[in-house]
Amino acid sequence: MKILVLGDSYCPAASLAPAFAAFAGSHEVTLADVRDAPEWQPTSPSETGLREYLGTPAQVIDHLDGHEALVVQGAPITDAVLDAAPTLRLIGVARGGPVNVDLAAATARGVPVVTSPGKNAVSVAELTLAFVTMLARRIPEAMRHIDAGGVFGHDNYEGSQWMGHDIEGRTLGLVGLGQVGRRVAARAGALGMHVLAHDPYLDPGQILEAGAEPVSLDELLARSDFVSLHARATAENQGLMDEARFARMKPGAAFINTARETLVDEAALERALRSGRLSGAALDVSSPSPATGRHRLLEFPNMVIVAHIAGATAETLERGGVMIADEIRRFSAGEPLRNLANPDVMAMARVAE
Ligand SMILES: NC(=O)c1ccc[n+]([C@@H]2O[C@H](COP(=O)([O-])OP(=O)(O)OC[C@H]3O[C@@H](n4cnc5c(N)ncnc54)[C@H](O)[C@@H]3O)[C@@H](O)[C@H]2O)c1
Repeated sequence: MKILVLGDSYCPAASLAPAFAAFAGSHEVTLADVRDAPEWQPTSPSETGLREYLGTPAQVIDHLDGHEALVVQGAPITDAVLDAAPTLRLIGVARGGPVNVDLAAATARGVPVVTSPGKNAVSVAELTLAFVTMLARRIPEAMRHIDAGGVFGHDNYEGSQWMGHDIEGRTLGLVGLGQVGRRVAARAGALGMHVLAHDPYLDPGQILEAGAEPVSLDELLARSDFVSLHARATAENQGLMDEARFARMKPGAAFINTARETLVDEAALERALRSGRLSGAALDVSSPSPATGRHRLLEFPNMVIVAHIAGATAETLERGGVMIADEIRRFSAGEPLRNLANPDVMAMARVAE
C-alpha cells in the first residue's frame, strides 16, 4: 500500500515513524508534517464540526499523491480532503477519538476510519497517581515555601509544617472506569489503596474484576479520601461535580480531574476549597485561564494546576503509531480491524459485495 503518515506540531511524523519502519519493503511509506495555521477558520459544514485539529485541509491535500492509507494525529480530514483522495482506502487517526475527521464524509465514501483508544491511558494513570501523592504529602505547599525564598535544610524537624498522610490504606474513588480508570485502579491497588468505582455503564462484576469496589456516586463521594474523575465527557454528565456533589465529599478529601473540565462546575469547586471542606485539588484540565495573571485557584495552598500534560509523553505518541500501524497491517492482510470508528462502512462493503 501507498501510505502517507502526516504528523503535526504536537505529534511529528518522526515520532510515528518507528512504528512504520517494519513496512519497508512491503509498503511505500511517506512521512510529512502539516504546519500550525491558527489563522485558518473553518467555514463549510464539514469543517465546522471538527475539533482539536492542527494544520489545514489544504495542507493535507498538498501532500496527497495517490495514497491508499492516510495516518494523522491532528491534521483535519474534511470532505474536500476526501474528494482530493479518490485512491484512499483507510484513514488511521493516532488518537482516541477522531475529532479532527469528518466521520460522516468518510463513511459516505466507504472509507474506514481506525483510531487508537487508550493510547495515553498509562500516561494519564501515572499522572493521576502522582497527583494523589502530591496532595497527600502536601507537595504544592512545601514547594511554594521554597519558591517564595523560605529557609530549608536548617532543621531536621522542618517537615512538621507540612505533615501529610501515607496513601497506603486510604480510599480512592474513581468516577469512570474505562481505559484510564482501570489502569489507575490497578496501580492504586498495588500501592495498598482501597479503590471504589462508580461507572453506570459497567456491571458490578466488571468493576470488581478491575480491582475496585462498585458503589453509587453518592457513596463514593462520602467514603473517598481522593475523588478522581475518569469519565468520558458527554452532554449527560456536564457539570457532574456540582455544588451538591462537592458538599457530599468527605471533609478533608481531595479532588482530582485529569478527564475533561466540562465535568466540573469550577465555581462550586472553588467554594468547596474556600469552605475548607476539600483539603486540596489537582487539575490537568480546567477552563481556559485569563490572558494574564495568576490562576485564581492557586490562592489555595494545596492546589496543583498543570497545563494539559496528562497524555503528553513520548510513549503515548509512539503507542498511537504502533496501534495504527497494526490496523494497517490487519487491513492489508484482510483481517478484521480492531478500533473502527465508523462500522457502517463494513455493512456498506457487505451490501456492495
Ligand atoms: N488529560 C489528558 O491528557 C487525557 C488523556 C486521555 C484521556 N483523557 C480523558 O480521560 C477520561 C477517560 O478516558 P478513557 O480513555 O478512560 O475513556 P473511556 O471511554 O475508556 O472510559 C470512560 C468511562 O467513563 C464512563 N462514564 C461515562 N459517563 C459516566 C458517568 N456519568 N459517570 C461515571 N462514569 C461514566 C464510561 O462508562 C467509560 O467506562 C475521558 O474524559 C478522556 O477524555 C484525558
